Amino acid sequence: MEVKDQQFQIQGVSLIDLAQEYGTPLYVYDGEKILEKVKLLQKSFSGVNLKIKYATKALSNINILKLMKKAGTGVDAVSIEEVKLCQYAGFEPHEIMYTPNSVSFEEIQEAVALGVMINIDNIPMLEHFGTYFGNKVPICIRLNPHILAGGNAKISVGHIDSKFGISILQLKHVLKVVEAHNLHVIGLHIHTGSDILDAEVFLRGANIVFDAAREFKGLKFLDFGGGFKVAYKPDDISTDIEEVGAKVSQAFKVFCKEYGTDLEIWFEPGKFLVSESGYLLAKVNVVKPTPASTFVGVDTGLNHLIRPMMYDAYHGVINISKLDGPERIYTIVGYICETDTIAADRKLKEVQEGDILAIKNAGAYGYSMASNYNSRLRPAEVLILNSKANLIRERETFEDILRHQLDIGL
Ligand code: LLP
Repeated sequence: MEVKDQQFQIQGVSLIDLAQEYGTPLYVYDGEKILEKVKLLQKSFSGVNLKIKYATKALSNINILKLMKKAGTGVDAVSIEEVKLCQYAGFEPHEIMYTPNSVSFEEIQEAVALGVMINIDNIPMLEHFGTYFGNKVPICIRLNPHILAGGNAKISVGHIDSKFGISILQLKHVLKVVEAHNLHVIGLHIHTGSDILDAEVFLRGANIVFDAAREFKGLKFLDFGGGFKVAYKPDDISTDIEEVGAKVSQAFKVFCKEYGTDLEIWFEPGKFLVSESGYLLAKVNVVKPTPASTFVGVDTGLNHLIRPMMYDAYHGVINISKLDGPERIYTIVGYICETDTIAADRKLKEVQEGDILAIKNAGAYGYSMASNYNSRLRPAEVLILNSKANLIRERETFEDILRHQLDIGL
């Protein structure tokens, strides 16, 4: 987003104009920013065969998926529905990694029938898989590396007490099951967590996977998951992706030489690719001075962006209706019947009723985690590409709230 011609713009499109045309609340995505991130990631890994598997869950609109496909990425899907969505968007089965957790064997069978890569994350499932498919279907195994890293406890998933993956300490057991069923393991996977800043953590994870990989013959890829940290606060630092690329590529090349095959190296970023591209535009319904602070109540809330309430996440907020004038301190709150503080004690250009606020970093885990709580409608989504705004999802209507409810005539 930039200020040009006295307006906040994305690729020359005025955000205020978008709010007027499509109404608020409105999710807006900068397609060029997404493409820029894909390119940066691609060029940070040199001399290795990198495959990006975009984490669909972060932002799953089919147009975003199609954009990723055009940019040359594959996808990581965590549910059978995401698998189907990715196929609908044009991904070939071999471009789709299916990384489920705690799903039924029936769902796994369905994914096998769709021809996607299956990532198995527990030993009982490995046993079922072996009994049912033997070595007929190639698989990946998700290991838990026992690394505690990530932005907060809820999004740290590679530690010893996490439900995800098979403990690296159970590797011997895994090998026994693999041998007993003659399983065709072609990939190993880890995902340590989200918001991981330090490049060294990715290297540590890679080394743990290399150690495990030495025990397997015939591997084709190693998948190091997602989790690159993006900057949410103004003075935040983000993961130095070039440093991760340089360090991990180097170690990967050495490993491939030792292993005797040029394996593919996979990453599954979500936030890194889409967080910064997204803005949630909301209209100010009320400015409410109280003895303690001045609340700004907007026409959105935890139903549309749950990150601040769920993870105490920081999202920058800008009053895009004002370019000049004095600034004041405000606490921006939602319209939901619970405490849904979007941003506390922020300095904004003086806010008035009807102003439009832009909530930053709303691309990842914004719309995809939105709900109909309070029977509110979910917003529309707009994707800006080649300086043109495209409506990519309509705002819900009251009929959507009633859809699937059955009136039994009481
Ligand atoms: N791969 C796997 C297996 C994952 O579970 C995840 C995220 C990713 C990749 C992508 O992680 P990313 O690059 O986006 O950090 N809703 C939370 C984040 C939850 C992430 C869950 N797994 C948030 O808004 O912070």
